[in-house]
Amino acid sequence: MISLGIEGTAWSLSVGVVSGEEVILLENKPYVPKEGGIHPREAAQHHSENIGKLIGRTLSRINPEDIDVIAFSQGPGMGPCLRIVATAARVLSLKLKKPLVGVNHCLAHLEVGRWKTGARKPVTLYVSGGNSQIIARRGERYRVFGETLDIGIGNALDKLARYMGLKHPGGPKIEALAREGERYYELPYTVKGMDFSFSGIVTAAQKLLDEGVRKEDVAFSFQETTFAMLTEVSERAMAYLEADELLLVGGVGANRRLQEMLDTMCRERDAKFYCPPSSLMGDNGAMIAYLGLLMYRNGHSTKIEESTVKPDFRVEDVDVNWD
Ligand code: ATP
Ligand code: FE2
Repeated sequence: MISLGIEGTAWSLSVGVVSGEEVILLENKPYVPKEGGIHPREAAQHHSENIGKLIGRTLSRINPEDIDVIAFSQGPGMGPCLRIVATAARVLSLKLKKPLVGVNHCLAHLEVGRWKTGARKPVTLYVSGGNSQIIARRGERYRVFGETLDIGIGNALDKLARYMGLKHPGGPKIEALAREGERYYELPYTVKGMDFSFSGIVTAAQKLLDEGVRKEDVAFSFQETTFAMLTEVSERAMAYLEADELLLVGGVGANRRLQEMLDTMCRERDAKFYCPPSSLMGDNGAMIAYLGLLMYRNGHSTKIEESTVKPDFRVEDVDVNWD
């Protein structure tokens, strides 16, 4: 079976084609803001200008008749962006006469991670721009065991980078600076039960910069503090749930230092640490195609009249009837 998936919840516009065994095609046309962060309308404009070409290029490289299902990210995400993607998916589904499956973007990050790593029943740390959550499966649902109370860790990194005058996306730039850090400056460590927050830490880090502390040391201190928080809560979830696997997914998961801290924690408790290849970590169409395929195989599909976008779609809202 073959699935074509369209992703476009925020900055990434991407079309992927997968079979149950492998990623066959992945075409990306990311939106890069000229300055500042992501503007929902500008991103939607970018998506509407490029989606036709991207789908056209994909269909020219496969036989459209071979496609069994059209998947699209139904939410969560920026309303204007989601609507462009949903419209394109509906048109394609009607034109090719193939079923439509609307998928949850967060669950797509998670399931593509399980697929590519072989993790079976992991606790998942999902860290991206807009989201930061600890997720685990309980019966027929995924449940969120801890999450950010304000902004996602990726947005926090992007904000800090912007304050340093660096362009979006800031995460990889903070990672590079942090490697040159020499001194650790204490920052607020904000874990509340199983939840955490990042806004106050960004403000405190900005204050250090105002006081003349080196960018490298601020980046280093910021990463050490926030990643320690994420590692602590992941470990607690694993202990509560008696899990011996941890899966890292989402754009921030590409960060080597975060991977290293989680790997060390897992080794110390005899657990296995998994992360998918970085091409599938950030937002991409292959993860949407894969979850669409999984859902379709298990009896799910989305009628056109039920395909309206869900900007606040939560992972707990999905019925999970697959292994
Ligand atoms: P979501 O809708 O799931 O929140 P998203 O739109 O934020 O997704 P992702 O591609 O999952 O998109 O994540 C993007 C984030 O990942 C950005 O904030 C970016 O700075 C961050 N990021 C990318 N690479 C790295 C890295 N090496 N280290 C830290 N952060 C990174
Ligand atoms: Fe994402």
